[in-house]
Amino acid sequence: MVGAMRSQIGIVGAGPAGLFLAHLLHRAGIASVILETRSRAAVESTIRAGMLGDWVVRLMRDMGLAERLEREAHFHDGVTLQVGETRQHLDLAGLTGGKQVTIYAQHEVLKDLIAARLADGGEMHFEAHVTSLDGIEADRAAIHFTQAGVAHRLDCDFIVAADGFHGPGRLAIPAEARSEYHKDYPFAWLGILCHAPRSWPELIYARHEDGFALLTTRSDSIQRLYIQCDPGDPIEAWPDARIWDTLQCRLATPGWSLTEGAIFQRSIIPLRSFVCETMRHGRLFLAGDAAHIVPPTGAKGLNLAVADVRILARAFERFYAHADTTGFETYAATALGRIWKGERFSWWMTTMLHRDPSETAFEHRIHAAELAYVMNSTAAQAALAENYLGLPFAD
Ligand code: PHB
Repeated sequence: MVGAMRSQIGIVGAGPAGLFLAHLLHRAGIASVILETRSRAAVESTIRAGMLGDWVVRLMRDMGLAERLEREAHFHDGVTLQVGETRQHLDLAGLTGGKQVTIYAQHEVLKDLIAARLADGGEMHFEAHVTSLDGIEADRAAIHFTQAGVAHRLDCDFIVAADGFHGPGRLAIPAEARSEYHKDYPFAWLGILCHAPRSWPELIYARHEDGFALLTTRSDSIQRLYIQCDPGDPIEAWPDARIWDTLQCRLATPGWSLTEGAIFQRSIIPLRSFVCETMRHGRLFLAGDAAHIVPPTGAKGLNLAVADVRILARAFERFYAHADTTGFETYAATALGRIWKGERFSWWMTTMLHRDPSETAFEHRIHAAELAYVMNSTAAQAALAENYLGLPFAD
């Protein structure tokens, strides 16, 4: 027995793209249902990056979703770049007319969006496993899923796959209709969370001859640190002592040392760049990581996901208010304009800051020269600041 339900928009995935979209649609009077494979607890505790671009924070404020962020996020005026033992503060606020770096972990954003969705009476199903997307090339679409062993069907006008890089959404587009571009990097990040006070007032992005390191924060007593590692490393290859030795070495500057603490979470994160340019196929739209991945060095992942659904929500508004499908036809092109700029920036930050074991001696020197230029040029810093904190929207 299949339980059937109906909504205007069926959203697969309760990550940043799916949740922001549901909120934007709700404000426009458009109904949606979110289906998420994982449990609510898993969504609310999965550790991801934590930098929100300036316009994302403004959007959250405008939508009334920023109350806890206002209290708990860390706001910085800039970031520190480090090469060897030399540090350079980049005054990103000064270079962008006052925009700030906001550090607020992605799962904290998701907690706030889920709580607000439930308070709005919005429909959302966790542990709902999508089995197939139907009718995307036909007049009516449907999402088949199972929950607690029971088969269900959600009939909808349109489906938005916001189900991440590994989700089934993108694969519902026939392979021959999909244009995809990707690049894998020959290095990964080891990310840790530890109980320690802050060692430096803002983020440090460090290029060291042994590899990249990044210092960021979560609270006054919890710190987040990353180190470049080999993508084939098992997590057991990184016992605490090796992690701290590596961080102390890569972040070393005279007269300063990193405050260590108990590590309570560690994981290895692959670095890849990926774009699926086919972001619409009939009644199916892709948003966020389902369509594109950036390496985290540019802190752009969540921000690009929210940009997609901001564009998509407007397309749905035009459709339901005026039966105007222009927004559907232009969605991919409009979104891809931003996405490729985010891809370029993330790739540029990554190549400039990492030690690539496969690069030639010439490329190695070019990447070092690139960073030396940024450290000393206000013009280069202004370009970095504009891209890092979020390019402005045309409208
Ligand atoms: C983080 O706080 O986890 C973070 C910040 C900036 C990045 C990546 C991760 O580029």
